[in-house]
Amino acid sequence: MIKKEQLNTNIPGHVAVIMDGNGRWAKKKGLFRAIGHENGTKAVREVVEGAAEINIKHLTLYAFSTENWNRPKLEIQTLMKLLVSSLKKEIKTLQKNNIKLNAIGNLDSLPEKARNELLEVIEKTKTNDHMTLTLALSYGSREELIKTVQEISIKVKNNVLSPHLINEAVINKHLYTTNLPDVDLLIRTSGERRISNFLLWQIAYAELYFTKILWPDFKRSDLFEAVFDYQQRERRFGKTSDQLS
Ligand code: IPE
Ligand code: IPE
Ligand code: MG
Repeated sequence: MIKKEQLNTNIPGHVAVIMDGNGRWAKKKGLFRAIGHENGTKAVREVVEGAAEINIKHLTLYAFSTENWNRPKLEIQTLMKLLVSSLKKEIKTLQKNNIKLNAIGNLDSLPEKARNELLEVIEKTKTNDHMTLTLALSYGSREELIKTVQEISIKVKNNVLSPHLINEAVINKHLYTTNLPDVDLLIRTSGERRISNFLLWQIAYAELYFTKILWPDFKRSDLFEAVFDYQQRERRFGKTSDQLS
């Protein structure tokens, strides 16, 4: 088990997590999937507090994808209810740890109650500055890129922007992640090794970390372990190893 004292000062600025395995966790125990999701919220608290503890500036959690709308209606309802109850409950944790809440995704497609609760907590925590916690809700990277292309096209059509001025910064500005830096470390739990339409543009140079732990079992020490692993890597960004030293 890795303790936070074993970490050096090279803390990733932006950690993103694909929280996967709630259903399998429940199934293994002979429980309903909903119980898996419920226990998943405990892992969320662990990771949020753990990230704040080691001074991660940006933590982004994949909570619901555009593809997840294809799940059974009842499961979607359970997840949306859990979102509302967690927001109500965890606002205290956010205030105590000076964490600002942010959300990315097609928030208009969320049920009104969930959207309102979300916007309320975002408003209440907007001046907190120790860490930004971003929830990806009804988020899909391709949907985000389509939105971006549409917005930029309109600017070009209206002569507000000239095509040759479109660069990375312009694209970044139109993404949902507009105020966030690139992802440094991407973690996925449950043993799956795929990206599932998450932050495709933003993970261009992220370090990837896969673990078999099912999301409800994920503890802050598991986050520290992922960060420890990250600290053993050499990020070369296309350069040679010699150029870095
Ligand atoms: C992750 O757990 C939570 C969401 C995607 C909302 P899953 O519900 O995907 O759990 P598995 O993959 O079925 O085990
Ligand atoms: C990815 O998990 C989405 C979230 C964690 C919210 P899924 O369980 O939906 O991913 P796939 O469909 O198995 O790739
Ligand atoms: Mg899954």
